Amino acid sequence: MWRSLTSIIRPCVESSAAPEQQRDILKSVSKTFYIETFGCQMNAHDSEKVIGTLEHEGYLRVEDEAEAGLILYNTCSIRDKAEQKVFHRLNEYKRMQGEGKKFAVIGCVAQQEGTRIFDKAPYVSLVSGSASYRNLPQMLARLEAGENRITGLDDRQTDETFETEFVARTNPHRGYITIIEGCDKFCAYCVVPYTRGKERSRAANSVIDEAIRIADQGFTEIQLLGQNVNSYNDPSAKMTFAELLAAVGSVPGIKRVRFTTSHPRDFTKDIVDAIDAVPTLCDHVHLPVQSGSTAVLKAMNREYTRDWYLERISWIKAAKRDISMTSDIIVGFPGETEQDLEDTATLLEEVGYDQVFAFKYSPRPNTPAVTLADSIPDEVKVARLQVILERQRAIQKASYQRHLGEVMEVMVEGHNHQRGQVTGRSSQNKTVNFTVTDPILPATGSYRTVKITQTFPNSLVGEAVRVN
Ligand code: 5AD
Ligand code: SF4
Repeated sequence: MWRSLTSIIRPCVESSAAPEQQRDILKSVSKTFYIETFGCQMNAHDSEKVIGTLEHEGYLRVEDEAEAGLILYNTCSIRDKAEQKVFHRLNEYKRMQGEGKKFAVIGCVAQQEGTRIFDKAPYVSLVSGSASYRNLPQMLARLEAGENRITGLDDRQTDETFETEFVARTNPHRGYITIIEGCDKFCAYCVVPYTRGKERSRAANSVIDEAIRIADQGFTEIQLLGQNVNSYNDPSAKMTFAELLAAVGSVPGIKRVRFTTSHPRDFTKDIVDAIDAVPTLCDHVHLPVQSGSTAVLKAMNREYTRDWYLERISWIKAAKRDISMTSDIIVGFPGETEQDLEDTATLLEEVGYDQVFAFKYSPRPNTPAVTLADSIPDEVKVARLQVILERQRAIQKASYQRHLGEVMEVMVEGHNHQRGQVTGRSSQNKTVNFTVTDPILPATGSYRTVKITQTFPNSLVGEAVRVN
């Protein structure tokens, strides 16, 4: 958890200092930083590690960019016009350059655009991709020495992961642990292998040590992270991914273990067996299919067919537990026909996903597909996205009904005072809004047993019940 600079220094200035004096005192704290983060959970967790590292180097995190000496911008480049958005934001920073602030652009757009960022925004002093964060302390020292144009861009071939004990965990209940970085899959549309570098796994004992450490800090939920967790390849050669899952699930104090993201190509049956055998492993698998058409999958270089994917789904459906399945879909990939789209829609129905994240294809720099003509007009992509979302909504409306009358454990995430409801999440990662009869509301992070009384396409409603 982090505190704002204002709250940290307030006790010493509160009684006597005027607001202007308080501001002067804030300015006198030399090493302050503000960080803005975009993108996936990997990126969000990278920011937690970057924050922890900066704090260890004597920096103080502030909530307001006006109070910061160093502004970091952790960027994402997965879709759309990410580069333009970054340069637009940097333009807004420009007006602050006279205030003596320093700027760092990190993450995927930093890796992708490299030193072009200095050319377009000369007031930026540091540009670094995620594979170089290991060198952050040295880069910070150079920054403090007044150096400019500091880069961390050449480490994508490294075998090392960014392991640090200095992680500023920003979610009070869910602890993220990176188990694998980078990606070697090279899907035709995807920028990740170019921004995050080659695949490298972290030793299983180091992952388990971190799980024990964060359980000792009071976390009850762990999410294992990687672009492709299924191709986890323990460098100490001790554990498979399924064994690692089971080991993390057995750490005392841990009640829930999640993992994301899975690639169907490396998804093995022992993962389903582990979920069946270890109750702390959440009954949820996010297995992005991207398209239901074998022809499009081939063009996307996904290295599996529709049938091959459905076979993995049949393993999940054959499990003893009701395992929730979710997916990512791309519509409008070059060459996609109306029939291909229909194949995707029927696949959604055949699987019966509980949630689908659907995106319009957007060409990304350096990717193989960027050389293909972006042949589907935007209005057609928009219409296709709509088709997918509508079909999926109907699926969820029906599938969420299976929970009616079910009794499930919910982790409390917050309270909706207006509606008199407690909000939380099930093991399947579904939102559950429920009422309690106790006058004292359950604390966030605590667990309650809830009976489901109503279902919607995206959430469940229930009431807390006592367990004897
Ligand atoms: N265009 C659209 N969607 C994309 N994704 C990845 N690259 C692209 C792209 N170029 C989607 C995929 C992936 C999710 C994280 O983002 O569905 O699973
Ligand atoms: Fe965005 Fe992909 Fe980078 Fe995550 S890994 S921040 S999704 S480009």
